[in-house]
Amino acid sequence: MKLFIIFAAALLAVTALPAQQHWTSFKAKHGKSYASLEEERARFQIFQDNVQKVNTHNARYEAGLETYTMAVNKFADLTPKEFGAMLRRNNGPIPRMTLTSHVQSDTAPEAMDWRERKAVLAVKDQGYCGSCWAFSTTGALEGQNAIKNNVTVPLSEQQLVDCDKEYNEGCNGGDMLTAFEYVIKHGLNSEDEYPYEAEDGKCRAKSGSVVQVKEGVSVEATESALRDAVGTVGPVSIAIYADPFQLYNDGIFDKTTCYNDRDLLDHGVLVVAYGTENGTQYWDVKNSWGEDWGMNGYLRVARNKKMCGIGLYNAYPVLA
Ligand SMILES: *[C@@H]1O[C@H](CO)[C@@H](O)[C@H](O)[C@H]1NC(C)=O
Ligand SMILES: *[C@@H]1O[C@H](CO)[C@@H](O)[C@H](O)[C@H]1NC(C)=O
Repeated sequence: MKLFIIFAAALLAVTALPAQQHWTSFKAKHGKSYASLEEERARFQIFQDNVQKVNTHNARYEAGLETYTMAVNKFADLTPKEFGAMLRRNNGPIPRMTLTSHVQSDTAPEAMDWRERKAVLAVKDQGYCGSCWAFSTTGALEGQNAIKNNVTVPLSEQQLVDCDKEYNEGCNGGDMLTAFEYVIKHGLNSEDEYPYEAEDGKCRAKSGSVVQVKEGVSVEATESALRDAVGTVGPVSIAIYADPFQLYNDGIFDKTTCYNDRDLLDHGVLVVAYGTENGTQYWDVKNSWGEDWGMNGYLRVARNKKMCGIGLYNAYPVLA
């Protein structure tokens, strides 16, 4: 009897260990700690569900049934619902303002990659703060500053989070076109001058500005207009429906189930490139979830397939 118990316990340990070990290394890798034992238990369960989801998805990928892979990344302790709620903070109507419209040049090349032209700076990490809109804004401004002035200085998201209160709500969300308006009026410090903190704070902007912005330009809500803008102007700020990207790893995201609805756009990002890979047209999107998410911080998503709302909100700044 005693032997049997020991044997059963050993068996249990062997089967339970990998999941526990995986969980322990996940927590260590991503610096996770939880408020209580109950929360830790709940998170462990969610984590296991996500591991299962990733394994199932990647087996389908191996079988040629999916176009992209998933990974057990730092968001693997969140349910899809929690992840969506984290994204969806302020997706209300865009404030009324006079907008300049992009004029199509119809001279965009077949493929373009602004990273090769040194107009895209390093991927940043917004942390658990709904400031995606500020990162999309700085990304577009950094791009124009590199293209027009050959200046590659990272710009301050924290200033937008803390100071741009006319239209935007810091960690509770915001919008890129109105953020360009803020920069037109108040300028923008560098990342070094006003570093990122991932939480709302008091405005501490220093005088002076790295960039002088003349206007924000709205691009017609089609993927062909977006291609024209990315192909001829530079990286473009866009909004997407980002819920399905929680566990994205690599490959061209192409799923007809991804919503293409203006009312569901919940994440601001930056289109930096487009092209064709093995016959599939794609966009390359710079995200602000750190380099340890997706393809070194980037998402590759199918183009001209109305994927996840890409092309429904497109904007860029014009420097003075
Ligand atoms: C841009 O800046 C880099 C580094 O400062 C310099 O080496 C390069 O010559 C500049 N290019 C132009 C076109 O001015
Ligand atoms: C494209 O083709 C190359 C070479 O055959 C292959 O390595 C790569 O995985 C393919 N990419 C996709 C997205 O199918």
